[in-house]
Amino acid sequence: MRAHYFAIGLLGLATLVIADNYFTIALHAPKNPMLHGKLVNARDKSFIAGAPTPSTRCGLDDAAQCPTGNVTLVTRDMSFLASAVPGGQFIYIAPDGSISYPNAHSTLRPPGAQVGGFYSLLASSDHSESVDVLNWRSTKDGTSGLWVCAVAPGAPIAYQAVLKASTGQFNGLGCLSVNGIVIQEAGSSFGAWEYT
Ligand SMILES: *[C@@H]1O[C@H](CO)[C@@H](O)[C@H](O)[C@H]1NC(C)=O
Repeated sequence: MRAHYFAIGLLGLATLVIADNYFTIALHAPKNPMLHGKLVNARDKSFIAGAPTPSTRCGLDDAAQCPTGNVTLVTRDMSFLASAVPGGQFIYIAPDGSISYPNAHSTLRPPGAQVGGFYSLLASSDHSESVDVLNWRSTKDGTSGLWVCAVAPGAPIAYQAVLKASTGQFNGLGCLSVNGIVIQEAGSSFGAWEYT
């Protein structure tokens, strides 16, 4: 047990040290050219592949002090959005497989939601360079995998699609499987004051 706590302490420290680097997120689906490489943006409490911009707001009187807010950035393990707002904004996976985040200044999430669970995979790109890819696994039952689903019934997934995760309640029915999320380092500046 002691060794276990020690390891967690080290992880906490490592997170602090690398927290300065933020990453863009895109779909990794090499067998599906229609989805592969599509940028993912945080919009209206979802992660939308193919959305041109995130939905954000500036909570300061002087808007010039806020980040531009036109790009979605996350921490290396996709557990937090790169929000400048005090307290930040964590990312959770709800039991129904939806991937979301609370409002600024809130820690509200559905009962049974999991924060964290994204893990790195070794993956190779078309040019056999290695790329940083994340997949997701439930700590409750080990269910793993990521999907993209229509934004509305009948809407074409090729245009915009909602990112979801496999859970005990959600097996990807009606959605397309993706191999993961490519993360690409984007520097240390926040992406937005708040993602809405
Ligand atoms: C975001 O806005 C900045 C400043 O206007 C601009 O330089 C950058 O290209 C924009 N990025 C995207 C992804 O639109």
